[in-house]
Amino acid sequence: MAESTEQRKSRHLDVCLDEDVASRLDAGWEAVRLRHEALPEIALADVDVSTVFLGLALRAPLLISSMTGGTVRAAEINRRLARGAEAAGIAFALGSGRAMLEDDGLRTTFDVRAVAPKVVVFANLGAVQLNYGVRTEDARRLVDALGANGLYLHLNPLQEALQSGGDTNFRSLEPKIAALCAALEVPVIAKSVGSGIAPSTAARLVDCGVAAIDVAGAGGTSWARVEGKRSGDPARERIAEAFGDWGYPTPRATAALRAALPLVPLVASGGIRDGVQVAKALALGADLAGLALPFLRAADESDAAVAALIDELVTALRIALFATGSRAIGELRDALA
Ligand SMILES: Cc1cc2nc3c(=O)[nH]c(=O)nc-3n(C[C@H](O)[C@H](O)[C@H](O)COP(=O)(O)O)c2cc1C
Repeated sequence: MAESTEQRKSRHLDVCLDEDVASRLDAGWEAVRLRHEALPEIALADVDVSTVFLGLALRAPLLISSMTGGTVRAAEINRRLARGAEAAGIAFALGSGRAMLEDDGLRTTFDVRAVAPKVVVFANLGAVQLNYGVRTEDARRLVDALGANGLYLHLNPLQEALQSGGDTNFRSLEPKIAALCAALEVPVIAKSVGSGIAPSTAARLVDCGVAAIDVAGAGGTSWARVEGKRSGDPARERIAEAFGDWGYPTPRATAALRAALPLVPLVASGGIRDGVQVAKALALGADLAGLALPFLRAADESDAAVAALIDELVTALRIALFATGSRAIGELRDALA
């Protein structure tokens, strides 16, 4: 019998939590150096990491990247992440809402408004689903039902190609993405899933009306490896493993996108693992930094673990600003060594 979307999502969580799914590519954060300021002439207390992203006020430039929904376990993870994000004033993205569009009974596994009425939350769909029956009305229904502040559209050709029975018809999506962006009342953000987005592709997406780009580059969770390990088929896993270092590493891809598109709201994600890397991502031109797998691990543990991870990231980011002599995150752009 074909695997249901719900079964697939559940297995994704186990594979990500229990197996080595790290990209075999070193993202290259060490090569990004921030200027150390021995005489900052500010107090640590002067540092302000608040920001505004797509008109949404955040107390720190952080995003919990798209992960889950659709199962009872996912519901609890989403609630823990949403509570943590709301308490800290950071943004939170849900996993693909396709399962909910297929079965409205799964809505409660995505809907976090009951526990986090004010959190900045983004819904998520695979762009390719626009070729598989998902219409603009469906995307709007998803956004409305979840009270979402925006919609993430993920672009995952490699992942679909490595999945048995994956949705691999990526033909003529641009006009459909453009129609979606024009019709929705909320901003649409395009993202990869750990392979990155080239500047020329990002420019095409911006032409379609996408409001922001999330590079979701390589160096963190490898979706090729996740799909390979999930398949249970040695030949398929070998094919997937061949793509274990695929994609544009996040720091380089972030810098390239910022250089090509100076004004487009930009999220850096993919392999960001600590607050100094967050600072480096912002210095390279990102407006927000997103993390997925570290937040899954924390949410799998407890509300307290989510709060502690956010606190660690924000504390290190604040210290990185202080030690570069930056009062506000905008000043980090001048702090590359
Ligand atoms: C368990 C899990 C589920 C994910 N599901 C989605 C998804 O539904 N939609 C999406 O756009 N990205 C999804 N991703 C990809 C992440 O948003 C992110 O782009 C990728 O994991 C790289 O970030 P990381 O290295 O911080 O994990 C998922 C990641 C994980 C770990």
